[in-house]
Amino acid sequence: MVQVAVMGYGVVGSGVVEVIMNHRDGIMKRSDAELNVKYILDIREFPDSPYAEKFTKNFDDILNDDEVKVVAEVMGGVHPAYDFTKACLLAGKSVVTSNKELVATKGAELLEIARQKNVNYLFEASVGGGIPIIRPIGLCLAANEVIEVAGILNGTTNYILTKMIKEGVSFEDALRTAQQLGYAERNPAADVEGHDACRKICILASLCYGKHIYPEFVHTVGITGITLEDVSYASSWGGVIKLIGQVSKLDDGTLDITVEPMFIERSSQLAGIDDVFNGILVRGDATGDVVFYGKGAGKLPTASAVVADIIDCVQHLKDRKFVFWEDGNASLVKPYEETVFPVFVRAVSDDKKAASAKAAELFPGMKPVVRPDAAENEFAFVTGKMTVADRNKLLEELKASGTEIKSVIRIADL
Ligand code: HSE
Repeated sequence: MVQVAVMGYGVVGSGVVEVIMNHRDGIMKRSDAELNVKYILDIREFPDSPYAEKFTKNFDDILNDDEVKVVAEVMGGVHPAYDFTKACLLAGKSVVTSNKELVATKGAELLEIARQKNVNYLFEASVGGGIPIIRPIGLCLAANEVIEVAGILNGTTNYILTKMIKEGVSFEDALRTAQQLGYAERNPAADVEGHDACRKICILASLCYGKHIYPEFVHTVGITGITLEDVSYASSWGGVIKLIGQVSKLDDGTLDITVEPMFIERSSQLAGIDDVFNGILVRGDATGDVVFYGKGAGKLPTASAVVADIIDCVQHLKDRKFVFWEDGNASLVKPYEETVFPVFVRAVSDDKKAASAKAAELFPGMKPVVRPDAAENEFAFVTGKMTVADRNKLLEELKASGTEIKSVIRIADL
């Protein structure tokens, strides 16, 4: 019997306990390990829980119990999750987590402690919820050079954009519905401002390229600026708008990494991933494109990934699994201003004819985009590929001639 502790009894934590207790026989058959949840750490009272006798408010109960070999940290946030995780690893316990914020900000340090202590720190649930992605990248695709990873990594924003695209619902109304349905984080800024997706692409980038890519290195834009007009233009252009987390390795060895809304062609494998679903495309040099699709959030999908990590730890109590990256620094990432891609531009001008002519002069080869029911003074176009710095200079010139720029949205190559 292997004793396990669960830290945090929220949505994911209660799912983890439920999955372990209800699937004991199946877990035993598949892994030759019998698991028991010995402690559940939470500051709240759960007197009516069938597991009431397992609850503790004292972290030391877990830390000082040598019988506890694996700890699931599903508290979320950096503090106190970081201190608890570090203490458990230093005490020789393996830790598994769904906490993307902690892995994205402290991953290198915690993985190093796990290495020194010959224990595991696993985090399959931190990206894509129930979708297997960490293990496939680290193991199944290990023979590849990963050329690029691009994903719809946040279910809440995907739900909002899907409502805007399919039902013509405004951003504000779609967010309200997402909150009512319990999809959004308690503070929806983490979702709609792109921070949650940023943490996830940082974890995937660190895993693929072996150095810690911290969220502050990543240009991050959410979906709060996306309007129904933009959605309509994307449709006329031949695609949809999705919030994409993307990382690719450039020829000079630096990473082009970003989180931002993008125009995606309808033929892309990511274009049809709707509602709260997540989809992650991994472009390997040997495999070509491999796409992972499924529920990126929710109690049982996320718990499924956490419990799979617990089982993996139990099977590797003596021989550590190799999941590791070194610390990293900002020089690993190409400055956003120097990255190169085309954009969609939406603008308004009282003299639309002159403004469109000026845009065509500034952006040779630009392609106009026309949508039904556009306002009289509105026009839009797609630029050619250029650096962000060059494009911004040209847009400043366009503005100086009396044009108001309403939207600038990246065109994806996916
Ligand atoms: N708020 C997150 C999302 C939860 O919407 O995807 C899962 O990480």
